[in-house]
Amino acid sequence: MKDRISLAGGGALRGVMRVPGDKSISHRALIFNGLAEGEAFIEGLLDAEDVHATAACLRALGVSIEGAHIRGVNGKFSAPVAPLDCGNSGTTIRLLMGALAGQKFRSELTGDASLRARPMARVADPLATMGVQFEGHSSTPPIVIQGATPSNIQYCSPVASAQVKTALMLAAIQGRGTLRYEEPACSRDHTERMFTAMGIEFERTVTAGGAHRLTLKGPQTLQACSLEVPGDISSAAFFIVAATILPGSDLLIENVGINPTRTGVLDVLRRMGATIEETNRRTVSGEPVADLRVQSADLVATTIEGNEIPRLVDELPVLGVAAAEAHGKTCVRDAKELRVKESDRIACTAEILRGRGVDVSTVEDGFDVQGRPGSPGKAFTIAAQGDHRIAMAAVIAALRCEGTSTIRGSESMQTSFPQFMGILEKLRV
Ligand code: S3P
Repeated sequence: MKDRISLAGGGALRGVMRVPGDKSISHRALIFNGLAEGEAFIEGLLDAEDVHATAACLRALGVSIEGAHIRGVNGKFSAPVAPLDCGNSGTTIRLLMGALAGQKFRSELTGDASLRARPMARVADPLATMGVQFEGHSSTPPIVIQGATPSNIQYCSPVASAQVKTALMLAAIQGRGTLRYEEPACSRDHTERMFTAMGIEFERTVTAGGAHRLTLKGPQTLQACSLEVPGDISSAAFFIVAATILPGSDLLIENVGINPTRTGVLDVLRRMGATIEETNRRTVSGEPVADLRVQSADLVATTIEGNEIPRLVDELPVLGVAAAEAHGKTCVRDAKELRVKESDRIACTAEILRGRGVDVSTVEDGFDVQGRPGSPGKAFTIAAQGDHRIAMAAVIAALRCEGTSTIRGSESMQTSFPQFMGILEKLRV
C-alpha cells in the first residue's frame, strides 16, 4: 500500500459494497478459541495487520491457526521463546494480558512506537490486585507478566473500556475467585456474547445511575465455538459519512454488525439528518447484522457526550468530518479517551478539519466544529501519525474539497482496512 495518497475531491458514491470483518470480534474469536478446549472454524475473520498480530502471538503461545481453522490449547498456552509483538494493536496487548494472567510462565508483550506509548496500567493494576506479577513498571509496553491463579477482585473501572473488561474476564475464568466489575457506561459487549456461546456463565446488571456491573466466578472453561464475523461498523462508518455528505450518493453496505453497543454512529448521524435505512436484519453468531442503505442528506449540528461516547468512540474522527458539513456548531465532550488511542485523535481530527478550512476548537476531552455546509473545503495536506482511522477520516474529508489533498502515512490503513482505497475508487462516480 502507498504511504501517501493524493486525492481530488468531488463526485458521489453509488453502488453496493461490503466491509471487512469486525476487528473487535476477530481478535476475540482468535484469542478465546485459542485458549479454549476444542477446535473451531472462523469465517469472515478480518484480514488486516492488527488481527495478524493477534494470530502471530497466539501461534507463539502454541495455538494452531490454519486458514479459518483454529485449535485451542485447552486452557494451557506454551511459554513463548521471544517477546510477543502486538504491533499497533491495543486490543491484542490488553486482551493477551488477561489471557496470560492465568498462565504459569513469564512472558513479554511489546509493540510498535504508538503502542509503546499507550496506557496499560488500566489493565495491569487490577490484574496485580488479582495476584498477577509484573516486572518493572507496567504503565506502558513492554509489559513483562508472570501469570498466577487470579483471585477475587471487586473493581470499578474509571473508563468504560471493553478491553479492560475483557482482560479481567479472561483472567477471572482462569482463577479461583469472583470478579465483580463495574464500568460507568456499557462498553462494547462482544466478549459477553461470545463467552455465553462458549459456555461461560456470568451475571450482568445495570444500576439506576446507568453503571454496568458484571459478576463472573472462576474457574470456568471456554468451549471452542465456530462463528461468522460480521462486517465492521467502524469501517462502514467512513463510507456512511462519505455517502451522506457527497450530494447524489446512494450506497448499499451489506452485512454490517449493528450491535447496539456499537451503533452510536448511526444514532448521531440520524439525529443530524442522515438517511440510513436498515434492511435484512438478522442475527449472525449471536450478533445483530443488517444491510445499510445510505443516501446523501443535509446535516445539522449536534452534541455528542456522556454515555453515548463508548458506543462510537472509534467513529469520532469521521463524525468530526460529518460535522464540518453540518449547519451549526457540533460539540464533542467526555471523549478524553481519544487522547490515548493510536494517536491523539482530538488533535489529529482538529488538524484535518482546520486543513479543510473549518473552525475547530479543542478542549481536553473533546472538540467543537463550526460547520460550513454547501461550500466545498480547500484542499489540504496531513500526516496520519500512524493512525489508520485518522488516515481514512482525512480521505473522506478530502472528498468534499476542491482540488487535490494529500494524506501522508496512508499505509496505516493496513491496520484495519487494507481494501479501503480500492473500494472507494470503485464506488466513486
Ligand atoms: C476495543 C475497544 C475500544 C476501541 C478499540 C477496540 C475492543 O477500546 O476503541 O478500537 O475491541 O475491545 P477501549 O476498550 O480502550 O475503549
